[in-house]
Amino acid sequence: MRRRAALALAAGLPACAFAQAEVPLRQQARQAGRGFGAAIRSEILAIDPVYAALYAAEAEILTPEWEAKWEALQPEEGRFDHTALNQIIAFAQQHQQRLRGHALIWHQAMPPWLTTALEEGPARARGVLEAHLNAVLPATRATIRDWDVVNEPIANPPGSDNPQPGNESMRQSPWFRALGRDYVEIALRHARALDPTLRLTINEYGVEEATPDAATKRTRLLGLLRHLLDRGCPLDAVGIQAHLQLRRPFEAEPFARFVAELREMGLAVLITELDIREADALPTGLAARDAAVAARAAQFVSAAIGAGCRTVLCWGLSDRDSWLAKEPAVARADGVVTRGLPFDDTLRRKPMWDALARAMR
Ligand code: XIL
Repeated sequence: MRRRAALALAAGLPACAFAQAEVPLRQQARQAGRGFGAAIRSEILAIDPVYAALYAAEAEILTPEWEAKWEALQPEEGRFDHTALNQIIAFAQQHQQRLRGHALIWHQAMPPWLTTALEEGPARARGVLEAHLNAVLPATRATIRDWDVVNEPIANPPGSDNPQPGNESMRQSPWFRALGRDYVEIALRHARALDPTLRLTINEYGVEEATPDAATKRTRLLGLLRHLLDRGCPLDAVGIQAHLQLRRPFEAEPFARFVAELREMGLAVLITELDIREADALPTGLAARDAAVAARAAQFVSAAIGAGCRTVLCWGLSDRDSWLAKEPAVARADGVVTRGLPFDDTLRRKPMWDALARAMR
């Protein structure tokens, strides 16, 4: 109890709150044999100690939101900078937290030199890919045992958000243009060769909901995975980002069937970036809004856990720092701050927190 009181105080909650305070998600998940975590930014550690304490209390797993992306780690060719990532690693070690690496190969957060290099032919592209992994994986070997080796390889169908014309199932990214579909296999094989016991994960979004676009993307992802596994390519897990949207329907059955198919292929399935974008027209009042978000979280996480996911990470913990509040591509047009994470912008628990706790128990 004393420890919980200290945590409540550190999290800026009134001391009296601790008596009723429920056990943090971290422990609730662990007691049920599952893992809960969240993405974190290194600035929080420097400027927001109360929020950092909340991460320590609530999350067993941390994903660096930016610090392990290519532009952070290798801003110039051959110059590696682990400063920001190391701050998160040190925090995680201090609080006995595990880390997920995110993301080695992705079409965003690419420094300009990398974009240029990928246009200089396949040998050059393969060279920079291997050199990045050669530097990053040994340096993080002791602390990061699960990496998103490839992030978002699948194309969105025409007519969806960020559509890609045509029927090619692979995203026409700079990596794809340089190396074709093989870039995924090259990255996975190279990672395995460098570190045989590292968990290799492919991470993807837009595959969760009950829409034709999501169904197309599920089929496309399954196709890529079958191709890789048929060729004996190493791969251990699939990360499902789960940036959910209340304006789209969710149904447990097709999603659970998809997770089951992944698991039948011998892959672990993790929820890696859960957050919930609210409806275009908001219900009146915070209580109604939070109830809608919580209901979707309950439905989704129950379906995921029921289908065999053991790990759930949110993309941040509090609305204070969510990309949903800051990123023009996903922020609301009306300027209202979305309430799509388990804590509000004053770090108070919301019904989504209870929904996550229940679903993980
Ligand atoms: C986002 C970050 O949250 C933003 O701060 C950044 O500007 C862009 O990237 N899918 C991913 C994450 O895999 O890396 C993205 O993170 C969100 C979508």
